[in-house]
Amino acid sequence: MYISEEEILEHISARPFRLVSEAADEMGVETYVIGGYVRDIFLNRPSKDIDIVVVGSGIELAKQVAAKLGRRAQLSVFKNFGTAQVKCGDLELEFVGARRESYSHDSRKPVVEDGTLEDDQNRRDFTINALALCLNKARYGELVDPFGGLDDMEELTIRTPLDPDITFSDDPLRMMRAIRFATQLGFFIDPPTFDAIIRNRQRIEIISKERIVDELNKIILSPKPSVGFQLLDASGLLPLIFPELCALKGIETRESIGHKDNFAHTLMVLDRLSRTTDNLWLRWAALFHDIGKPATKRFDARLGWTFHNHNFIGAKMIPNIFRKMKLPMNEKMKYVQKMVDLHMRPIVLSDEEVTDSAIRRLLFDAGDDIDDLMLLCEADITSKNPEKVRRFLTNFQIVRAKLAEIEEKDRIRNFQPPVTGEEIMRTFGLEPSRPVGVLKEAIKNAILDGIIPNEHEAAYQFMLSRAQKLGLTPVKLDPKC
Ligand code: CTP
Repeated sequence: MYISEEEILEHISARPFRLVSEAADEMGVETYVIGGYVRDIFLNRPSKDIDIVVVGSGIELAKQVAAKLGRRAQLSVFKNFGTAQVKCGDLELEFVGARRESYSHDSRKPVVEDGTLEDDQNRRDFTINALALCLNKARYGELVDPFGGLDDMEELTIRTPLDPDITFSDDPLRMMRAIRFATQLGFFIDPPTFDAIIRNRQRIEIISKERIVDELNKIILSPKPSVGFQLLDASGLLPLIFPELCALKGIETRESIGHKDNFAHTLMVLDRLSRTTDNLWLRWAALFHDIGKPATKRFDARLGWTFHNHNFIGAKMIPNIFRKMKLPMNEKMKYVQKMVDLHMRPIVLSDEEVTDSAIRRLLFDAGDDIDDLMLLCEADITSKNPEKVRRFLTNFQIVRAKLAEIEEKDRIRNFQPPVTGEEIMRTFGLEPSRPVGVLKEAIKNAILDGIIPNEHEAAYQFMLSRAQKLGLTPVKLDPKC
């Protein structure tokens, strides 16, 4: 992970950094860029959030920098927190005074006081996040690394600067951050740090659900999310933050018949899907796709283990889980629910002869999300039997080809019935009532089953003949209407 001095200087060469340097020297205060921005220079990751720590007043320095930048800068001061932000183009600089935290025996709340750079580095979460680069002119670009953060980066290690019990007790979310960084960066958690996560896991309960979900989202968006979920499981955090996922664990055997471990399977599906999409919500859907299995598991002497309707039961569980975890209760939730509900459909289809009518129904139910659904279903094929996998994937290609052909022909994807409820009511002089629904449903089914084409005239004639069977006759319309 060698990086030259020139490369480091390159990352702090933009004008705002130079102006921070100038202002800090004028004020006679030590100033550093610290935290994620410095870490990401060494990891060669893009980063726009820049944390500046000042041995003095962060707010005063921010004001000076904003004045030097002139009209291009936007200054926001957060007096209560003693911090300030300067936005300039796509750079965001956060200013804070160096702090020291001390804990007394009888209170969990720290006393925060002004401190030195070292005090400030001490209270940071991991050694790789405690690196600082000096911005004062005389020491411009000098690295201050008191805990061996650079060595840890070389060794791909997540380690707390202080005794991990103290670091995690100060902010228990850091237990999840450790796991998230390990997953995102492909790092290992140092065993004493990991043991402290196991010891302190219960403290996660004081952390808000929103902060937990933020970390889960970052784990899910990592290249191989299963790493994070395995670590959450091994540390004992998983049952505290996501018990429904834990319930998928384990294999039961009866009469020498076992079923697969649905936790391991789910993580495999999530990893496979992550190779084909960055869509966060589709990845959540992978995590939830078999969530209904524990509730529907039965043993039948003839059939072995069954999970009948697990997709339907799983979809029904989604709103409650979303509410509990403070995931968004909006169209994202509906999307995940739909994916969970439909995730068996293409598999069942590909296992049988693929009829046009089944394809039309699938297109009707999935709408614009059909391509996402197909990605999820392909990722769901995790059998160890290569012959079975080959057969499924070949059949999926047939399903995909058929989907394209039927969509081209019948335009079912965003199906709007060619005869509306309004028109039915007008034709037969009906108020909103059951026969209107019956006729609408009959027209929809006739189109999906291929009895009539998806066209107005054909649908209208079909409606007239169906209505006759229901004893309905068209009213004479007033030509003036
Ligand atoms: N930090 C910490 N404890 C936390 C959160 C943050 O010590 N619970 C410190 C770390 O030094 C971190 C810095 O504050 O590097 C900035 O935090 P943040 O912006 O949340 O995270 P980054 O490390 O920048 O990483 P990311 O942007 O990926 O969240």
